[in-house]
Amino acid sequence: MIYHDAIVVGGGLAGLRAAIELNRNNVKVAIISRVHPTRSHSVAAQGGINAPLGNHPRGGTDNWEKHALDTVKGSDYLADQDAVIRMTKDAARRVVEMELWGCPFSRTTEGKIAQRPFGGAGFPRACYAADKTGHALLHTLYQQTVKLKHASERNEMVVYEEWMVTDLVVEDGACVGVIAMDMVTGRLEAFQAGVVIFATGGAGRIYGNSTNALINTGMGIAIPYWAGIPLKDMEFIQFHPTTILGKNILITEGCRGEGGYLLNNKGERFLANYDDSKKDMEIAPRDILARNIAREIMAGGGFDNTYVHLDLRHLGEKKIVERLPGIRAICIEFAGVDPITTPIPIQPGQHYTMGGIDCNTEGETTVKGFYVAGEAACVSVHGANRLGGNSLLDTIVFGAIAGGNAAKYAQGLTGKKGGGALNDAAKRAEQRIDSLLKSEGSETPADVKTALNKIMDSNVGIFRDASKLKDALNAVKALQEKYTHIKLNYTGKRVNLSLGWTLELKGSLDVAEAVVAGAIAREESRGSHFRTDFPKRNDTNWLKHTLAHFNTGGVKLGYKPVNIGPFEPKERKY
Ligand code: FUM
Repeated sequence: MIYHDAIVVGGGLAGLRAAIELNRNNVKVAIISRVHPTRSHSVAAQGGINAPLGNHPRGGTDNWEKHALDTVKGSDYLADQDAVIRMTKDAARRVVEMELWGCPFSRTTEGKIAQRPFGGAGFPRACYAADKTGHALLHTLYQQTVKLKHASERNEMVVYEEWMVTDLVVEDGACVGVIAMDMVTGRLEAFQAGVVIFATGGAGRIYGNSTNALINTGMGIAIPYWAGIPLKDMEFIQFHPTTILGKNILITEGCRGEGGYLLNNKGERFLANYDDSKKDMEIAPRDILARNIAREIMAGGGFDNTYVHLDLRHLGEKKIVERLPGIRAICIEFAGVDPITTPIPIQPGQHYTMGGIDCNTEGETTVKGFYVAGEAACVSVHGANRLGGNSLLDTIVFGAIAGGNAAKYAQGLTGKKGGGALNDAAKRAEQRIDSLLKSEGSETPADVKTALNKIMDSNVGIFRDASKLKDALNAVKALQEKYTHIKLNYTGKRVNLSLGWTLELKGSLDVAEAVVAGAIAREESRGSHFRTDFPKRNDTNWLKHTLAHFNTGGVKLGYKPVNIGPFEPKERKY
């Protein structure tokens, strides 16, 4: 059994930020990451991180109150306002902290952090590093962890990379550690720790048409769910308006923030024809834009009934090369078009999991010593629709908060606990894996995964209704049954990638079930969850958070109130 004072699962922005905070507070910490930390999905974030710095003349009077109001409105009033206030008050200091740690932000002519407009604010609030903001932030934090690792023997900072966590172990209501598998050798280990933080990212890959990395299977959300911790607001899935045709790689909102236009097949800026986007046009919030692009395509305004154009040509070569170099490279590589001379074919695609593991503003869950942060968590700051630029902010603000609280908790612990429970859990995990390897079933993991992606894409997308959702639930249940007859082609333990994906597939199926069940129950339209059979928001019945509890016979739903603060729910007008 391996012991560390604290374990952080996930090597992306939230995980690294949490680990740094633990380490700064003299807690010996280990990070367990499915991939090398700088390959975590945070690296793919492009356009920016929100902070009300007011560095741009058009955002000169910005402050945390304005940022909070925009976030709450953007969330369609489902966000908890105490959480939003916490995040927006912390935003500036956390972004400046990243700057002081060396993050290479783009600069204004006076040398300040440059900011661009993103949806929901209407003026420049998103700080950026060209169109590689996630890359710049993640490498900055990773460098800090490397520095800390070498700075001190006492405050150990160990990274287990390419290890996959399979179980969270809880004894008497308190977390005692995790079980994890070394992906190279297939060896299972019990990791004992009095405090564990999950920062494992979202569940985007339950969908096929997604901007998410393939590692975003939802396993990190499923593991606490299986351990009895509820999931919150899982029905709220964000569809990014602009992903590249067919491949669904992200084409950043920064393109529109810099002045890019959306055009239909007549060359018109069609957003002007829709009431909810005609004022803010290309920088209206994402849920609105994704719907209006889909509507335009359904009404015959798209190309091949599949896509519209994002036109950057009028921005000119200099601006595109300087501010959007990654986008240009993606367009050339994956669509064969150079945005300097040719419009980009785009379509909406799954982008973000607004829901996640239920926690409070401290990152605490219903299990003592178990904390969560980042996209895996639902604090909730994003409610029914996240504003662009708030996810990176969420990771560093709540990563630091969860890390700080976990450190205090770890310092109050006496002695090592849960050795027996960990040994038992490790044995059970070993048996589960052995029976999967020996299974003589007839179903292939790839077929089950493809079928899951297909049903989620077609029935649980931008526009939903009871009939499509019920079909999706039946399909997911049928796939859960098929999973019990799965067979792996390669049954060795060394570097068995298919074993890892198959273990995670179980997590994807159970998380998908929670998404669909929540969507069936929520008979209203709010933020990203649009029910064509219930097209209006209904605050009387539905201004509440959904809680999904794991149950072997099928997910059980419950609800809890939204924390309303200074911003009274109003009709969302733009
Ligand atoms: O469009 C983007 O660059 C994505 C940003 C975000 O999801 O916050």
